[in-house]
Amino acid sequence: MTDPILSAAAPPADGPAVDGPNRRLYIETVGCQMNVLDSELVVGALRKRGFEVTSDPEAADTLLFNTCSVREKAEQKIYSSLGRLKYRKRQRPGTVIGVLGCMAQKDKDLVFRKMPHVDLVVGTGQLAEVPDLIDAARENALRGSKSRLTALSLSRKGGARKEIEASFESYDPLREPTMRPTPYQAFVRVMIGCDKFCTYCVVPSTRGPEQSRAPSDIKKEVEVLAGQGVKEITLLGQTVNSYKHSGEGKTYRLSDLLYLIHGTPGIERIKFVTGYPKDLGNDLLEAIRDLKKCYHYLHVPLQSGCDDVLKVMKRGYTVAEYRDMMHRVWETVPGCSVSSDFIVGHPGETEESFEKSVDSVREFRFKNSFIFKYSPRPGTKAYERLADDIPDEVKRRRNNALLAVQNEVGEEENARKIGEQVSVLVEGPSVRQKKADQSSEDVGPAPGEAIQLTGRTRCDRIVVFDGNPRLIGSTTEVHVDDCTGTTLLGSIVTREVTHLGGLPVLV
Ligand code: 5AD
Ligand code: SF4
Repeated sequence: MTDPILSAAAPPADGPAVDGPNRRLYIETVGCQMNVLDSELVVGALRKRGFEVTSDPEAADTLLFNTCSVREKAEQKIYSSLGRLKYRKRQRPGTVIGVLGCMAQKDKDLVFRKMPHVDLVVGTGQLAEVPDLIDAARENALRGSKSRLTALSLSRKGGARKEIEASFESYDPLREPTMRPTPYQAFVRVMIGCDKFCTYCVVPSTRGPEQSRAPSDIKKEVEVLAGQGVKEITLLGQTVNSYKHSGEGKTYRLSDLLYLIHGTPGIERIKFVTGYPKDLGNDLLEAIRDLKKCYHYLHVPLQSGCDDVLKVMKRGYTVAEYRDMMHRVWETVPGCSVSSDFIVGHPGETEESFEKSVDSVREFRFKNSFIFKYSPRPGTKAYERLADDIPDEVKRRRNNALLAVQNEVGEEENARKIGEQVSVLVEGPSVRQKKADQSSEDVGPAPGEAIQLTGRTRCDRIVVFDGNPRLIGSTTEVHVDDCTGTTLLGSIVTREVTHLGGLPVLV
C-alpha cells in the first residue's frame, strides 16, 4: 500500500446519456492505488452494461462508494458522504446506493445499521458481481422491498481462494480508460491480498490472502494497455515484491515479470508498489538496474526507525536489516530513490523511539515519506492487545516534526539535481495550471502557447516546467533550475531541428 488517502469522484461523463432509468453512475473512491484500479474496473464493467458516468451525485441513479479502512478518517469520510444521501433515497427510492471494497468487507452489519438506506455491500473479492447486484438491487428498490444485498466471501480457505482468484482473472481485463490517472499511465494488479499480518494493519482481513496473478495474463493486459496508448505501467500489490507464481513451466518472481513485460512495444516506463523490505532480493535490484524502462525508484516502507516498535508491529525486520537493504539498493542501482511510510504514535512509541524515526529519515535520505498517525483498527492484533496510549496532540506534533525533517531531506536531495538534465515523461498540466484554468474565464492557452506542465524523472521525482501542451504523453529533456522539498523546477532543453525546407524549428 502506498500514498496518502486518495479521494476522487468519477470524471465527467464523456458521452450522451443512455435512455431509461438505472444508467447514470456516480462513483467515489477513497484509499490506495488498488482502490483506484478497482473503481476503474467496476466502471469498465458497468459501461459495458450501458452506464454513463457522471461527476454529479444529483444526476446519478446509482451511487457507489469504494471504501478504505486503513485509518478511521477514511471511514468517517465515507459515512458522512453516505449520510448525505438519506433524504435523497427517501425522495427517489429507485436510487441504488452501494458500498464497495475494504469497509464493506469488514463492516457489513455496521454499514447497514448506521446507513439503512444502503442497498448493497460488496467486498473486495466480489467486485465482478457489482453489475448483476445493481440490477437486482434496483428491482428490490422499485418493488419497495427492504432486502439488502451482499457479496463478501474472502476466506483464507482453499475453495474461496480459488473463487476469488477466478473472479479477479475474469474481472481485471475489464478496464475503463477514462478513470486512469492520465491517458498515458495505468495500474496493473499483479497480486492481491497480504499474508504479512503487521499488527496495526487491517489489510490482511479486508483484502484476504496473498495471491499472485498468472504472468501470461499480466503480459496480455500490459499489451492491451500499450495498444490504448498507455506508456507507463505501475504494477500493484500490497507487498508487490513478494510476487511469486508457479505454473507455466517455471516459478516467476517480480524480477522475471519485469523481464517478461519489458519488451512490450509502446511501454516506456515501468514501476511497482508497494515493496516489503524483507523480500527485496538482489534479483529485483539487478533487474531494475539492467532494464532501461524500469524506474530507479522503490517504495519500501520502514514504518518506524526503532527496533522495539518494529517488533511490536511484527514487521519482521530490524533497522540494521533495513540498513543492509538500503546499502544493497545504493550499491546495485546508484541514484535509485527510495520512499517510505511511517506510523507515528504507535502504541508504546516513546519520545526516544520517535527520535529514531527522525534519525532514520536523515540516514536513509528518503525521496518522500507518507506519514500517518496511528489509528486503532478493530479486528487487528494491535487494537485487541495494545492501548492506544499516545494522545492525539502528541501524534500530531510527531507527524509535523517528521514531515518537516522529511521535507528538509527531500530538499537537500532535490538540490543535488540542480544543474542536471533529466528525462521527464510528461503527464499533463501542473496542479497550479489546472487551478488557473479552472478559475480563469479564458478559453485556455492559444495554440502553441506554453503552459506549466508536470511529469516525473526516472527516479520518480516530480518536475514542473513550462512547455507546449503537445508535449503531454512524450518523454522530454528538462534542465533542473531549482527545487522545493517535493518538486524539481526546470526548463525545457531547447533543441534545434532542421526540417526538410532547411528552416530550423525550435521545439
Ligand atoms: N494506523 C495508521 N497508519 C496505518 N497504516 C496502515 N495501518 C495503519 C494504522 N492502523 C499506514 C502504513 C501503511 C500505509 C498505507 O498506511 O504506514 O504503509
Ligand atoms: Fe498491511 Fe503489513 Fe500487509 Fe503492508 S505488509 S498491507 S502494512 S499487513
